[in-house]
Amino acid sequence: MIQVPRGTQDILPSESYKWQFVEKKLFEIAKNYNYDEIRTPMFEATELFVRAVGGSTDIVNKEMYTFQDKGDRSLTLRPEGTAPVVRSYIENKMQHNVEQPVKLFYLAPMFRYERKQKGRYRQFVQFGVEAIGVEDPLIDVEMLSMLMHIYQSFGLKNLKLVINSIGDIDSRTQYNKALVEHFSPRIDEFCQDCQTRIDSNPMRILDCKKDRDHELVKSAPRIYDYLNDESKEYFERVKSKLDDLGIKYEVDYNLVRGLDYYTHTAFELMSDSEGFGAITTLCGGGRYNGLLEMMDGPDKTGIGFALSIERLLLALEAEGIEIPEEKGIDLYICTMNDEARDTAGTLLHKLRSRGISADMDYENRKLKAQMKDADRKNASFTIVLGEDELSRKSADLKEMATGEAQKLSFEEIINTLEEL
Ligand code: HAM
Repeated sequence: MIQVPRGTQDILPSESYKWQFVEKKLFEIAKNYNYDEIRTPMFEATELFVRAVGGSTDIVNKEMYTFQDKGDRSLTLRPEGTAPVVRSYIENKMQHNVEQPVKLFYLAPMFRYERKQKGRYRQFVQFGVEAIGVEDPLIDVEMLSMLMHIYQSFGLKNLKLVINSIGDIDSRTQYNKALVEHFSPRIDEFCQDCQTRIDSNPMRILDCKKDRDHELVKSAPRIYDYLNDESKEYFERVKSKLDDLGIKYEVDYNLVRGLDYYTHTAFELMSDSEGFGAITTLCGGGRYNGLLEMMDGPDKTGIGFALSIERLLLALEAEGIEIPEEKGIDLYICTMNDEARDTAGTLLHKLRSRGISADMDYENRKLKAQMKDADRKNASFTIVLGEDELSRKSADLKEMATGEAQKLSFEEIINTLEEL
């Protein structure tokens, strides 16, 4: 039997209503903060991610779904949304838009060849936002405020916002040198990945899951001490505005993020719920000041974040928050014989074309079973069609909640339901 590919899932109707609910709310909040939707292709030139996300990152090194197309181009199913959005900003010359920053959001599947685990999929859906074109601590704060707004609007409480500043490229170069000096003498005590990271991306040693308790990680130099005055002041302004707004956060100097394009403000939102599983990061993001120029674009900066719907739903489950299921149809037509079934088919056609949701039995079941079916489908009204009803071209329109019924012609039934 052919099965769903490893690390992917079918979202069945018993779950899809939750997705619809969550997605609708995310769209509303994006609108609230004045972000517009952008849709980019599901695959991009591989080079885009190698350059933007970074050749030494796990995403690029281990996790990309890369293939040659028939024209011998190397393409990659997008593993994240920031690089494509930045590509589009540059390609469509959005730096000339009158309104800056350009505020964009996306809701789209991403693909990463990762080890399957609770909350970790090979295809997952990210909701992400990017504000490109202006650098201002207030925009960083807007991001964090929107992020908290999203999670809190679902009633989630067990949340921990962690922030850090990873400075500009110069500060990071100095800091990376200090890390190499710090870790090099005892790097053989670290995992294989970290032994590679010391050459390619020493900062990533700080958030290695395997080595996080090593004493050298705990005693490592702090990025904050390597930030220049400008970066420090920027970070202070972000923090002070967060305090102003009453947005709670923790500073974690070891938060470095897994993608190379970040500068200055970086953040993650974790779930604090018990039993959430090993992976507690719900959302991550940060500022990317050098990225556009690195992509041969204009001298513009950006900031954004992304969350996956899968992990948001897990967080809701962990906190016992239920999503209302708005299931139901306006009318269910019960039928007593074949002729009635035929007439029901015609009526359904008319009802639906007038915007009324309606259904009938297709299995030739007994009346009692059809009524049960109407209940299961949460029908607001029912009618029963038998010989009498067909000859009179009328039926009793019964309201299920009250049990009340009124005799109406077929046309009147349609009109009544349409008005309702
Ligand atoms: P990221 O930290 O790689 O950042 O991913 C962001 C979020 O996507 C994670 O916090 C998590 O909720 C979700 N996620 C990542 N991988 C998986 C997975 N395998 N299964 C389920 N969920 C997953 C980025 O992607 C950046 N583009 C975020 C960003 C936007 N930075 C600036 N702008």
